[in-house]
Amino acid sequence: MKNKNINIYVFSGTGNTLLIAKKISEFFNNNYYVSTVHRLEAVNPKTINLDSTIGIGFTVACWNTYPFVRKWIDDLPNGNGTEIFLFNSMGDSSLKMISHISKILQKKDYIVIASKEFVMPNNFLLIENDKKKELKLNKTLPKVKDFAKSIAENNCSVVKSNIISSIFFIITTFIISLWEIRISQKFIKFKIDKSKCNKCNVCIDICPVENISMRNYPEFSMHCQFCLRCISYCPQKAIQSHLLYKNKTHTGLSLGDIRWK
Ligand SMILES: Cc1cc2nc3c(=O)[nH]c(=O)nc-3n(C[C@H](O)[C@H](O)[C@H](O)COP(=O)(O)O)c2cc1C
Repeated sequence: MKNKNINIYVFSGTGNTLLIAKKISEFFNNNYYVSTVHRLEAVNPKTINLDSTIGIGFTVACWNTYPFVRKWIDDLPNGNGTEIFLFNSMGDSSLKMISHISKILQKKDYIVIASKEFVMPNNFLLIENDKKKELKLNKTLPKVKDFAKSIAENNCSVVKSNIISSIFFIITTFIISLWEIRISQKFIKFKIDKSKCNKCNVCIDICPVENISMRNYPEFSMHCQFCLRCISYCPQKAIQSHLLYKNKTHTGLSLGDIRWK
C-alpha cells in the first residue's frame, strides 16, 4: 500500500460489516497509518478523497449487494490509479460477488489491491443462536486482522471470479434491480405495533435511504432496501415485517454505533 492515509467507506445494515471496518481501521491506526471509517450512505461518492487509499465494505444481499450500494459504487469518480481494497460480510456465501465489484472498479481505473469476503452471523431468516454466533465471530475476526495485516505488508490477494459466479452476478444484478419496484416493496409489508411504538424517531434517523417518515406513526415509502436496520434497532421492537420468521433479526453492534445523525 503506497499511501499512509486510508479512508474506509462502509455500508452495514445491522452492524456486522461495520464491526469488520472498525477492526480493519483499528489495525491500521495501531500500525502507523491514519485510517477513518465513513458511513457510505452519508458520503457523496463523487467527493471521496482520492489522495488516500480507499477501502469499501458492504453487506451481501441476494448474492449481490443492495441497489443503493451498487449505485454508490457506480457513481464513484474515475480513480486515476488510486489503490482500493474491498471487503464484505455475508451469512454463508456470496458466490464471489466481490470479484465482480472489483471488475467494476478496475474499469473505473482503480487498482484493487485486496478483496475478502467474511462470514458473519446471519441477520436474515437463518438466525443462529448466541453460541453459534460466537463461534462464527471467533473464526472470522482473526481473519479480519490478517486481512488488514496482509494489506499493510503488501502481501494481499484478491477474490477471483469464475464462470458460475459471473452468471450469478448477472442474474442477481437483474433481481436486485427489481427491489425498488412497487410490487417488491409491497411484499415487504411493514407493520407498526402501535401499542409499542413511542414515536422516538430512531427508525427515521437510521434508515440509510430516508424511506421512513413520521405522520401519526412511522410510515414507509417505496425505497426500502431491506437492510433490516429499522427492525433490528427499534428500541421498542415495534416494527414488523412479514418477510421475517418470528420477526427475528440480528444486531452486530449497538444502536449508538449505528446511529450517525
Ligand atoms: C435481504 C438480505 C439478503 C441477504 N442475502 C444473503 C446472501 O445472498 N448470502 C449470504 O451469505 N448472506 C445473505 N444475507 C445475510 C447478510 O449478508 C449477513 O448477515 C451480513 O453479515 C449482514 O451484514 P450487516 O450487519 O453489515 O448488514 C442477507 C441478508 C439480508 C437482510
